[in-house]
Amino acid sequence: MSSKEKAVLVTGGAGYIGSHMVLTLLEAGYAVVVLDNLANASQESLRRVAKLAGTAPEFVEGDIRDRQCLDALFAQYAISHVLHFAGLKAVGESVAEPLRYYENNVFGTLTLCQAMATAGVYRLVFSSSATVYGNGQPLPIHEGLPTGRPTNPYGTSKLMVENMLQDLARADERWSIALLRYFNPVGAHASGRIGEDPNGKPNNLVPFIAQVAVGRREALSVFGNDYPTPDGTGVRDYIHVLDLVEGHLAAMNVLVSRSGASVWNLGTGRGYSVLDMVQAFEHASGQPVPYRVEPRREGDIAECWADPARAYQELGWQASRGLDDMLADTWRWQLANPEGYAGPNKPAH
Ligand code: NAD
Ligand code: UFG
Repeated sequence: MSSKEKAVLVTGGAGYIGSHMVLTLLEAGYAVVVLDNLANASQESLRRVAKLAGTAPEFVEGDIRDRQCLDALFAQYAISHVLHFAGLKAVGESVAEPLRYYENNVFGTLTLCQAMATAGVYRLVFSSSATVYGNGQPLPIHEGLPTGRPTNPYGTSKLMVENMLQDLARADERWSIALLRYFNPVGAHASGRIGEDPNGKPNNLVPFIAQVAVGRREALSVFGNDYPTPDGTGVRDYIHVLDLVEGHLAAMNVLVSRSGASVWNLGTGRGYSVLDMVQAFEHASGQPVPYRVEPRREGDIAECWADPARAYQELGWQASRGLDDMLADTWRWQLANPEGYAGPNKPAH
C-alpha cells in the first residue's frame, strides 16, 4: 500500500467480526490496515481472508492502549475511517476482572480517540451492544429509548464508551461517530474458511450448539425454560455476521457527510428462542443437538429484539440473510474447522 493511499483502520480485525469486516472491505476495493494484539485471535484468520480476497490487509500487531504504537500507525498510513472492534467481550470474565475490562475497553478507546485527534482522523465506527439498553425495555427496542443499567462490567464498559464518544462529538464538530448496537451476531463466511473461534468453553449459544453438533461437547445446557416467552426459553435477535459488517460499510459511507454521534441498531427485528435455535441447527446440520434444561443464567433477560427501522431509513441498510443461512454457514465453518484456527496442519500465530 502506498503511504498516500487512503485506508480504513480496523482495530480487532483478526477477531470474529473484524475478520469478516476486513474481507468485506477488501472485496469492496478498500485498502485496509488491521491493528490487533492477538489477545483473542490468531493471525491465521487474516491469512485466510487474504486468500479469499486475493489481496492482503496490512497487519500491525499492537495494542489500542499503546499510544506510541498508534501514533506510529497514523504517521505511516493515511487513515480515512477507524472501525473499532478491539476489546474484550466475555461477560463472566468481566465480572471476575472488571479492571482489565475497563482498561481494555474504556481506556483503550480513550487512547485511540486521542491518537485519532492528534492525527486529524475524526470518523469512527464503534462496536457497541444491545446490552446498553439494560433490562425491561418495551419491544422491539428502538434507539430513542433511554439506555439502562447493564448487568455486568462488560456492558457497563460499552455504555461508558458510548457516553464518552457522545461527549466528544458534542465538544468538537469535526468528529463523526457511529455507535452501532449489535444484537446477536452469528454465522460465518459462506466459504467455511473464517468463522467464530471461541477460546475454551463457548459463552454464547450458537458456538456452543455447533460444538455439540460436531461432537466436541455432550449436550447443550438450556439456561431456563420458565421465562415469559412462547416456549419458556430466552428469545434473541440473531443476525448474520455478514449482514452486520455490511451495516458498517453503510455507516462508513454516511459518516462522510454527517457530524456528531449517531446511534443505530444492527438487528433483524425477529426473535428466536433457544429451542427454536436448537431445532433449526439440527435441521441445518442433520445432527442431533441433545440438551438439558438448567437454571437461568444470572443477568440474562427474557427476550430482546431490535427495531431496525432507523438503520434502514438513515443508512439504507437492512439484514437480508435468514436463520437457515446463519446456521448453515456456522455449520460449514464448524465442520471444516472442528478445532477452530488451531487445528492440525494450521500454522499458529
Ligand atoms: P473477538 O474477541 O473475536 O475480537 C476482538 C479482537 O480485538 C480480537 O482479535 C482481539 O485479539 C482484539 N483485541 C482485544 N483487546 C485488544 C487491544 N487492547 N488492542 C488490540 N486488539 C485487541 O470479538 P468479536 O466477537 O469479533 O467482537 C468485536 C467487537 O464487537 C467487540 O468490541 C465486542 O465487544 C463487540 N460486540 C460483539 C458481540 C458478539 O456477540 N460477538 C456483540 C456485541 C458487541
Ligand atoms: N443460552 C443457553 N445456553 C448456553 C448459552 C446461551 O441457553 O449455553 C441462552 C441464553 O440464556 C440466552 C440465549 O441463549 O437466552 C442467547 O445467549 P448468548 O450468550 O448467545 O447471547 P446473549 O444475548 O446473552 O449475549 C449477548 C452478547 C453479549 C452481550 C449480551 C447482553 O453476546 O456480548 O448479549 O445481553 F453482553
